[in-house]
Amino acid sequence: MAKLPILLYPDPRLHTVAAKVSHVDDKIRQLIKDMSETMYAAPGVGLAATQVDVHLRIIVIDNSDTRDQLRVFINPEILESTGKADCEEGCLSVPGVYEKVARAQTIRVRALDANGEPFELSAEGLPAVCIQHEMDHLEGKVFVEKLSRLKRQRILSRIKKRQREPA
Ligand code: NI
Repeated sequence: MAKLPILLYPDPRLHTVAAKVSHVDDKIRQLIKDMSETMYAAPGVGLAATQVDVHLRIIVIDNSDTRDQLRVFINPEILESTGKADCEEGCLSVPGVYEKVARAQTIRVRALDANGEPFELSAEGLPAVCIQHEMDHLEGKVFVEKLSRLKRQRILSRIKKRQREPA
């Protein structure tokens, strides 16, 4: 297993639309292991393949306190979404930034697991928000793009300032 470098906003590669996984093989399973290790080490609750510069429709999520409830979604699709949730979100590609974003409260998702087997699940609250956030990455969207122009500009100038400062 290997930890992978995470792309940082505003890296233009984060705007790539990911392709469907055509076949779940050992190469894909290795990528999932590497993505999981990267997510746990960061530490984060979710990671999309887009964020490690692999443009395939794969996300990994673990919202548990015990950090042992890994969920893998390959080619995820939202079948149904209801209600509204306004949660504070963060992103490993935008470190140090936490903002409220409007999402659906409840979703029903269909995806393939790491064995290529299809499954469906319903999620509510934080896991639902997390799945929607990671699925946005697969469309080339970063959560700060859902904020007002003013907030986004403030975040960008903060990032630029940080990049100018010596580490
Ligand atoms: Ni993110």
